[in-house]
Amino acid sequence: MALDTKYNAVVTALGMYVPETILDNKYFEKIVETNDEWIKSRTGISERRIIENGATSDLATGAAKDLIEKYNINPEEIDVVIVSTVTPDMFFPATACLVQDNIGAKNAWGFDVSAACSGFLFGFHVGASLIESGRYKKVLVIGADKMSAITDYTDRNTCILFGDAAAAVLLEPTEDKNFGLQDSLLHCDGSGREALYMKGGGSLNPPTHETVDKKLHYIFQDGKAVFKVAVKGMADISYEIMQKNNLTSEDIAYLVPHQANLRIIDATAQRMGIPKEKVMINIDKYGNTTAATIPLCLVEYYRDGKVKKGDKLILSAFGAGFTWGATYLVWGMD
Ligand code: COA
Repeated sequence: MALDTKYNAVVTALGMYVPETILDNKYFEKIVETNDEWIKSRTGISERRIIENGATSDLATGAAKDLIEKYNINPEEIDVVIVSTVTPDMFFPATACLVQDNIGAKNAWGFDVSAACSGFLFGFHVGASLIESGRYKKVLVIGADKMSAITDYTDRNTCILFGDAAAAVLLEPTEDKNFGLQDSLLHCDGSGREALYMKGGGSLNPPTHETVDKKLHYIFQDGKAVFKVAVKGMADISYEIMQKNNLTSEDIAYLVPHQANLRIIDATAQRMGIPKEKVMINIDKYGNTTAATIPLCLVEYYRDGKVKKGDKLILSAFGAGFTWGATYLVWGMD
């Protein structure tokens, strides 16, 4: 369903950054009661990366610099920097400001988007809207999370799931409506807030010795509850955007799902009638990197020569909030 604007927003450059340190499943066998077989069969994860020295802005800056260098982008031409993250360096200033400075985007303004695992889709849609308005020509959208900063490495229910990474896309306008963002369906439902959240550190539970003792500064997740709604939420929204845009599974080159659990991804693909070879998957290597998972898949598959101009992609995600959504994108890069 093409948008009723002069411009479409199309991806014209990509970049990624993953830290060097790898934590494999064997590592977790040493620190919590778990095993490689359990982790692989229940989640699809074999290893994940963590940044030992650095913050989310360093991950995001790494991805932005990769994009700038590989595509010879002049940072002074970037109009807006959007960073989707739930692990900002600090409450304020926004991580986008830190990245703007680090990359020398002297003429840009920017802000952070907080939508957890749906963060990239929300940021992408907002960035695309700025392009579609005709007001901006280069919008950098980055998904970046240092999940290791808020992970309790004594809790086997959560610590095996998450990793650190960042990936970035540059959005620019095109008058060819056949390419770029075609449609987005986005939702939030705060009644799900207690299934997946970080209780402490904000204005509700400001940091005290007590909040630290009670481990309120870590991810809390009711895994079973989240699993149930995530399976249904991601499958339903992905199917809905196909139907709305008259797409069959044959039309779609790739499903690009948020990488939280391989079983959630499989259920989504099944509902859409999409075979495994048309599903982007890298959860085995990186685990759940929250806002970074979807752009990280895009970068890796594109660089492997698997994504071609004109390919129809469905991006879909589900995360804390609850937040969820799907995006229909036609790839515009050669
Ligand atoms: N190793 C071994 N056993 C573990 C374990 C681990 N790392 N983590 C949990 N278990 C145990 C549980 O304690 C439970 O034991 P119990 O029955 O004695 O209480 C048992 O395994 C089964 O737990 P369950 O929650 O049913 O497992 P599951 O199949 O649902 O898998 C998750 C657990 C976390 C992998 C799964 O629920 C999940 O992926 N949830 C959604 C996560 C998600 O998507 N989060 C991000 C939002 S998008």
